[in-house]
Amino acid sequence: MSRTHTIDVIAGDGIGRAVMPAALRCVDALADRFGFAVTWREHDWGSDRYRSTGAMMPVNGLEQLADGDAILLGAIGSPDVPDDVTLWGLLIPIRRAFQQYVNLRPVRSLTGVPGPLSDTGGIDLAIVRENVEGEYSEIGGRLYRGLPDEAAVQETVFTRRGVSRVARYAAQLSAERRGDLTSATKSNGIIHTMPFWDEVVAEIVEEVNAADPRTTVHLRKVLVDALAADLVLRPRNYDVLVASNLLGDILSDLASAVVGGIGLAPSANLNPEREYPSMFEPVHGSAPDIAGHGVANPTGQIWAASMMLDHLGEEPASATLLSALEDAIASGTRTRDLRAQASADDFTAAVLERLDVSMQEVSNA
Ligand SMILES: NC(=O)c1ccc[n+]([C@@H]2O[C@H](COP(=O)([O-])OP(=O)(O)OC[C@H]3O[C@@H](n4cnc5c(N)ncnc54)[C@H](O)[C@@H]3O)[C@@H](O)[C@H]2O)c1
Repeated sequence: MSRTHTIDVIAGDGIGRAVMPAALRCVDALADRFGFAVTWREHDWGSDRYRSTGAMMPVNGLEQLADGDAILLGAIGSPDVPDDVTLWGLLIPIRRAFQQYVNLRPVRSLTGVPGPLSDTGGIDLAIVRENVEGEYSEIGGRLYRGLPDEAAVQETVFTRRGVSRVARYAAQLSAERRGDLTSATKSNGIIHTMPFWDEVVAEIVEEVNAADPRTTVHLRKVLVDALAADLVLRPRNYDVLVASNLLGDILSDLASAVVGGIGLAPSANLNPEREYPSMFEPVHGSAPDIAGHGVANPTGQIWAASMMLDHLGEEPASATLLSALEDAIASGTRTRDLRAQASADDFTAAVLERLDVSMQEVSNA
């Protein structure tokens, strides 16, 4: 076995624990046939750990992850633990320590998926969300707690370095696709940080165009309120979208809903320079309302694993997994969120069956 990948697995909370085994089984099924091996390092980090020790992950948690090749995350969050504890105790420290400044969220229509726009087909978006600064900052505070004059202040931080690097990634991705880049803004209302975002994004697109005469990336900046409406009405007018941390978070959930639901959506937290491990996870959260019922859709998690394989250089295995996933959905084996009756296990079995068939075809070729 020539290539071994060491992957840190954090299934987390709620449906994270149900969808993670599906993704691991798929990757294990691919490994032998495509000539690589995976060492899974599983971590029981999350809300249970917080309840028993007071911390979502060990003090040296980041050190434990640092020498791995990638991180596969399920979801975190529990109704009895404040969301800022779960998020800031695990997810955000990983994204920041490992400079995973690009959150890439592909959104595609899948054959057979019912949804508001399922009959129009052909939606294929890449949402590039800034992932380590912007509106998600810990700068701020509360004054006069519990008093009539109580107030809260929260600062947004955009740095030239931070905006430039995510804009460069998005412009380069756009150049590899159809050269049509949309930047989400709100510079009419947010009058300091958003005009700065707009200026830096425009400068970087110019720089990317100037660097290679064969590259023409057309940049449009669109106010996020209008963009949200237009993504529902005319999603195919968009190709690559770049957005700040908060705006990208909202737009990507909205875009996933347009193609059938949040259970389908994957995301990659990328450190494009590969100095640190990148992290792959579904867009959805821990869904406490359905956790333990066996009905969670594992698509987002399996698709995230496919993105991880692609990042690790296992492109054929990644493509095989994605097409097995699409084929299983198209066959009608769909979970409850997609208006059908399959359980998470039924759906995973359908994906594994298709993987088996396509790998036999690879061997016989
Ligand atoms: N990256 C993360 O770990 C992450 C992301 C978002 C939310 N959260 C956390 O998750 C918890 C719940 O948040 P929420 O309810 O706002 O969002 P959620 O994504 O967990 O759920 C929203 C709705 O979508 C449904 N849903 C989500 N994923 C599904 C799937 N795979 N299959 C079928 N249905 C699915 C849920 O049942 C729910 O009705 C909160 O604690 C929140 O902070 C974590």
